[in-house]
Amino acid sequence: MTPALETRGLYRRFGGLVVTDDVSLTLAPGARHALIGPNGAGKTTLINQLTGVLRPTRGTVLLGGEDVTALAANRRVRRGLMRTFQINQLFPDFTVAESLSVAIAERDGVGALPWRNAGTDPAAAEDIAELLARFGLAADMDRPTRMLPYGKQRLLEIALALAWRPRVLLLDEPAAGVPEGERRDILAALAGLPEDVAILLIEHDMDLVFSFASRISVLVAGRILVEGPPEAIAVDERVRAVYLGEGADD
Ligand SMILES: Nc1ncnc2c1ncn2[C@@H]1O[C@H](COP(=O)(O)OP(=O)(O)OP(=O)(O)O)[C@@H](O)[C@H]1O
Ligand SMILES: [Mg+2]
Repeated sequence: MTPALETRGLYRRFGGLVVTDDVSLTLAPGARHALIGPNGAGKTTLINQLTGVLRPTRGTVLLGGEDVTALAANRRVRRGLMRTFQINQLFPDFTVAESLSVAIAERDGVGALPWRNAGTDPAAAEDIAELLARFGLAADMDRPTRMLPYGKQRLLEIALALAWRPRVLLLDEPAAGVPEGERRDILAALAGLPEDVAILLIEHDMDLVFSFASRISVLVAGRILVEGPPEAIAVDERVRAVYLGEGADD
């Protein structure tokens, strides 16, 4: 089967600093793949090359079998590649429903001030209702995003990405900054994501990683140290050595 997303020999340096060192990664359709590694390993930099905001020095990115290495970020979005950010990117004064309707209007190529149309476009309203229900945000739909508990803000970010109906979803630390009591909601939301969407999860919360992923790649200093199923990663001596003295949850 054609991989949903693939990198071949991806390499990037900033001056003398090699941050992506010959990374080859394959996500099958519907993959549940986690990318872990210490702070500064190059995880976000790798995502930036997948999405197209950063060009690799060399190597290839394939989306659905097509070489998109030279394709602009917005064109990759149109081809089904979405990401969420390590740091919250919401518009603070938009309500939850407005935020979703803007994403849906952008997806559908509807013009300016799209949220004005939200009430009149039944297909969009249906999409919004489905996303609100999926992420447990229905009761919050009229609240400005800045008023939401942080865990719900992070859920909304995933909902906004999913509004684009991606084939590949890149999640950069969806649980970052989320208090302990709200982490279960993130875990449940990740578990309930559509099965046909390939997902690459970056996360430091190992409970989340091991409950979610069926495959894990460990990135250290820009290189894939090891890749395998969670059972193998959990007992891998090289992985333990990386995290020992580091604290697995920093
Ligand atoms: N624009 C840039 N210019 C120079 N160096 C950069 C740039 N962007 C990232 N780096 C460096 O690349 C390395 C990898 O950073 P990156 O943010 O990708 O790590 P990370 O694995 O996402 O870390 P964290 O777990 O803390 O989010 C770091 O040493 C960082 O300083
Ligand atoms: Mg990062």
